[in-house]
Amino acid sequence: MDKSKTDLFINSERMKDDFEVLAEFGATGEGGVHRPTFSPAHLKARDWFRDQAHAAGFEVKSDGAGNQSAILYCGPEPGSKTLLLGSHLDSVPNGGRFDGALGIVAAMESLRIVKENHIKLPFNLEVIDFTDEEGTLVGLLGSSALSGSLARETLHNPRGGREALQEGLNAAGITEDSILSARRDPHGLTGYLELHIEQGSRLLNARASIGVVTVVNGIGSYRFTFVGRADHAGTTTLTDRLDAAQGACSLALSVRRLALVGFPGSTVNVGNMIFSPGAFNIVPERVQTWVEYRSSNSKVLNQLEASLLERARAEARRFSLELEIESGGKHEPSPMSEAVQACIIEAAEKLSLKHLPLASGAGHDAQSLAGICPAGMIFVPSEGGASHSPREFTHWEDCQNGANVLLRTVLNMGDHDSHPS
Ligand code: GLV
Ligand code: MN
Ligand code: MN
Repeated sequence: MDKSKTDLFINSERMKDDFEVLAEFGATGEGGVHRPTFSPAHLKARDWFRDQAHAAGFEVKSDGAGNQSAILYCGPEPGSKTLLLGSHLDSVPNGGRFDGALGIVAAMESLRIVKENHIKLPFNLEVIDFTDEEGTLVGLLGSSALSGSLARETLHNPRGGREALQEGLNAAGITEDSILSARRDPHGLTGYLELHIEQGSRLLNARASIGVVTVVNGIGSYRFTFVGRADHAGTTTLTDRLDAAQGACSLALSVRRLALVGFPGSTVNVGNMIFSPGAFNIVPERVQTWVEYRSSNSKVLNQLEASLLERARAEARRFSLELEIESGGKHEPSPMSEAVQACIIEAAEKLSLKHLPLASGAGHDAQSLAGICPAGMIFVPSEGGASHSPREFTHWEDCQNGANVLLRTVLNMGDHDSHPS
């Protein structure tokens, strides 16, 4: 790498200003953010993205899935391939301020540095803010639309419900058809890079500054609805009732055991139960139970899925209930490109930052992109491992380190342009 490039660093203060402004959109009293997809706060954050991109002199675009892009034409020609630097501006309900936002501000800052220093690369650069990474509506909506892995059926049965999806699409001015038109030609992409907080404690435990992601774990989910019979809670004997809550609660307890004993290293989560009719004095007739499962290994993911389905059916039989099963979608484990990992490692070493290879327990848009181009992720430490909570915190020095590794990885990928695969 020539000297003019090795001396490049992000402007930490400018990036911090961006980060702090962004954290105001949907700020909660507890220090987190509440920015579910296409909520008013999320729409404001999206406006901010376009304003910042315009102010920096980038071309601003959005696609039919609502993905927003800031483009810097630093390649040999406008039609050159593109290296995407992405993340997301939506959050989980009452989430933290770092998840997604850090990746966006670091990507924007990297492009500014490349532009200000008139760096020429063998590809153009594009910051991309993906729609609905967190799954308020569908999950990885924008990135799976872009990569062509989103099926129309998923939009017909979205994990957040049809009504929420329709409302969201109206708020953003997009449609189901436009979402499916957002597919991009993979031949135009050099690769995908994302900086993110780790959302776990492995970097802290190893006293490492940089995580080099090897694989993004696979994720699947189901909505199981146990169906019994509404009855008077005081007059129907305990043995006579068809109580949907028994099946749901028993499932919640048994899936944990199932994963711990049968599938070490995997995770399961019962994230919600909705009781209906939902009153003190009525035996629950229907209980919707939201179950999610994850593993870094495709075979284990499939076996875990089969066991969960079998368990749900067994619990329904045990309490003489009906069972309705709806899939909430499934994403296979996605290995990150070894060539991109090598560029990240080279960057971390150049900056004398201790690095660690790790699998991502959380889902990311990189898993959609990995199917169509070389993808890589850079993690920085999360204090206490906390995430999806206002307790989420990463020291600014770590954010700054991560952003510098991101910038340098871009430059390394430019130098090794013939290799990434
Ligand atoms: C996204 O953050 C997920 O892993 O659920
Ligand atoms: Mn995220
Ligand atoms: Mn998240």
